[in-house]
This record gives sequence, structure tokens and C-alpha cells, in this order.
Amino acid sequence: MTAGGDHTLRTLTADDVDAYMALREHSFGFPSDEDTRPIFVERMPRTVGAFDAAGALVASAGQWRLETFVAGRQVPLLGIASIQTSPSVRRRGIASRLLAHGLELARDEGIGWGLLYPFDPRFYERSGWQSLPSGVRLRLPMSRWQRPTELAAEELGSDLRRELQPLHLRCAAQWSFTNARTIGPWDVWSDMRPPPGERSAAYRVPDGYAVLRLREEGLDGTVLEVLDASWCSAAGRRNVLGVLAAYRGQAERIELEVPRDDGLAWAWADRWQARANETCMARVVDLPAALAALPAARELPPLTLHVVDDAAPWNAGTFRLLPAPGGCACERTVATPDATLDARALPLLLGGAARPRSVVRAGLAEGDERALATLFALSGGVTSYRPGSDRF
Ligand SMILES: CC(C)(COP(=O)(O)OP(=O)(O)OC[C@H]1O[C@@H](n2cnc3c(N)ncnc32)[C@H](O)[C@@H]1OP(=O)(O)O)[C@@H](O)C(=O)NCCC(=O)NCCS
Repeated sequence: MTAGGDHTLRTLTADDVDAYMALREHSFGFPSDEDTRPIFVERMPRTVGAFDAAGALVASAGQWRLETFVAGRQVPLLGIASIQTSPSVRRRGIASRLLAHGLELARDEGIGWGLLYPFDPRFYERSGWQSLPSGVRLRLPMSRWQRPTELAAEELGSDLRRELQPLHLRCAAQWSFTNARTIGPWDVWSDMRPPPGERSAAYRVPDGYAVLRLREEGLDGTVLEVLDASWCSAAGRRNVLGVLAAYRGQAERIELEVPRDDGLAWAWADRWQARANETCMARVVDLPAALAALPAARELPPLTLHVVDDAAPWNAGTFRLLPAPGGCACERTVATPDATLDARALPLLLGGAARPRSVVRAGLAEGDERALATLFALSGGVTSYRPGSDRF
């Protein structure tokens, strides 16, 4: 148990589920009934609650353990979800305290990175979280899609985890902050299984896959909705786009999400961007742990950084970074820093999400451009992308 201001923080147990569901129904309007109860009982060991002096649950935050890729390496990840405070005690810092507590627990487990989906990014920016550019949702007339190519696509059965997980890992490693889909509160694969009667299919092609369904949409006709698609090479991408082209003639429109730096986004995002995407935010939980998992692909010079991180003071201060092929070492120093960074600059640069100049322009870093370029080089040239199918 931890004291959080006037409140006590502790991990919830099955005995707290009724109080949790009542609070949740008020915050999120999620149905709390006998069907959803077992789901929430399962979530209790990963939910931290704040209790008032009378022992009543007044706030909570889900603190999940997941795995992601950063710069090509598979690393553990903290996922914060469903943070809520009873309206009667809001604006007393309880949610912020729960966020900080989640970071401390994850840091003690050696976790370097955290991720969440904000209701409003400004609330989390105050605690050092940073929104990342993610994918683009396109909705194109099928006539704009490429012509079908001849290729051997393998149609898959319903056990997508068994069929696709190894290939997914190879694809997910191509971007930073993807979901490895190894552990976590939800099984993305089973969530994609269609309800009976729905027209759906999953295909594996060399170096890629696609999971899709067909939907009727009134005047728009048949829409080919790509629920999940990924590739790990140029050939894999060609193969996936080719298999989707087989639906020309059957579907009038195609809807899919692609990384912002994919050729389809370059060609079509300005004209054919569909509905908005969810914002995703990332944060360094523990700087030495995050850096240790970032190998330098080429020889990079040491650099001295000053990090400002009020919400996670263990990351704040001046550090000497020593990039190396096995990972970047980091030690505290009293030397003059080459550059000063807000903690929010770290996921942008190390996750390959924004270049140093953009980060400087955003007011999140200042100092020697070469030092910032070295930090950015630790991203290994890998850009960030977390598709909507991996939202938690
Ligand atoms: C969001 C929520 C968890 C905040 O809880 P809380 O215990 O009041 O949070 P804190 O006291 O730590 O922080 C409150 C601060 O955040 C600010 N804040 C609240 N909503 C905000 C928003 N949308 N954007 C920016 N700041 C916001 C408040 O103004 C307050 O700042 P102040 O103290 O400077 O006035 C609570 O309002 C809530 O439960 N909302 C409904 C559920 C919800 O939407 N949860 C988010 C799911 S991602």
C-alpha cells in the first residue's frame, strides 16, 4: 500500500470488483452486469485503486504489461488504460498520482517504455507523455486500387494466432511501438474473428498477411474493410496489395490503415483519408532501460544530455550516453550537456517519430544539432506506427 496524498493506493482484488464497476459505469458508461463481471474480475490484479479515508474506492487506473518493438528490438511495455476519478474528488491530483505510481511500478520491473490512448492529450502531456504520428486510414474507390497480380495467397482458417503470430512478429519489428501481441489484456487475434454469418477472410502471402471483411454500406455499395494487414519486405507489401486487388469488381470501396510513411499514404492520404484515427501517446518510463535496448547500428559518438522530467524525477538530470552495438549505456554526469530535452522529446526521437529539427521547433529540445541527430540515429531509421487494430 502507498499513500497518495490523502488517499491510499493499492492493487485491486476480486473483492473490489463491485465498487470498480460502479465507478466505471459512471466514468465510461460501460455496461456493468453479470456478463461483464468476470472480465473485470480478471482485470483487478492489473488495476490500481485509490481509496479515501473511509476505505471507499474513488479512482483507478489499469496498468497492463505488454510487449512492443522499439528500433527493431522486442521490449516490455507498460500500458495505461481506463484511468478514472470519481467526480466528487476530481482535480485533487489523484489521477496524476495513479499515473506516477504506474510508472514507478513499471520502472522497478525494468520496463523502459509506456503507451496509452488519451481522452485528451493535454492531460497526459503534463505528465511527460507524447502523442505520436501513427497510421492513416484510407477509403478509396476500388477503381483506384492496383490491378490484381497473379500470386499464391493462402487462405487461412479461424485460428489466426497460430497461423499468423510468427509472421506478425517479423512484420511488427519493422516499426516502433507496434504491439508484439505476445501478452496483454486482450487477444487481438480472437477479437478479429468475425461473428457468424459475416463475410470475412484472412490470407497469408510471402512476407505479409491481410485479415478482411466485406460490409454493405447503402449507396456506397460493398466495402472491403481491411481489419489488419502487415508486411516485412517490399515483396510482402506488393503481395498484400495484390491479394486485396482480387476484390476489384466485388467491392466498390476499400478501407484500410497504412503507416504514414507508406507509399499509399503518400499517394492518397490528402485526397482519400477516411475517418480520424485514435491518438496514441508514448513515454519513457525509465531512461537507462529504454536506452539499453537501443543498439547503435553504426558507430555513434558519445553525447551528454540534460533531461527535464518532473513527473518521473528518476529520469531527470544530466546523463552521458555511450551508444554501442549491444545497446546504449547511460550514466549520470556533472558535465555540461550538449542538448537539453523535455522528456516528451524522447519517444519522438528514439521512436523515429519526428526528426530533431521538428522536435526543436516544437519547443521540446534545444542545443547542439549533432547531439540530437545522434539521439535520433538510435531509432535505427525505424519509424513509429501502431495500427488501430492494436488499440487497448
Ligand atoms: C480525467 C480524470 C481521470 C482526471 O482525474 P483527476 O483525479 O481529476 O485528475 P488530476 O487531479 O490528477 O488532474 C486534474 C487536472 O487535469 C486537468 N484536466 C482534466 N481534464 C483535462 C483535459 N481534457 N485536458 C487537459 N487537462 C485536463 C484538470 O483541469 C486539472 O488541472 P488543474 O488541477 O490544473 O485544474 C477524470 O476527470 C475522469 O475520471 N474523467 C472521466 C473518465 C475519463 O475520461 N478518463 C480518461 C480515460 S483515457
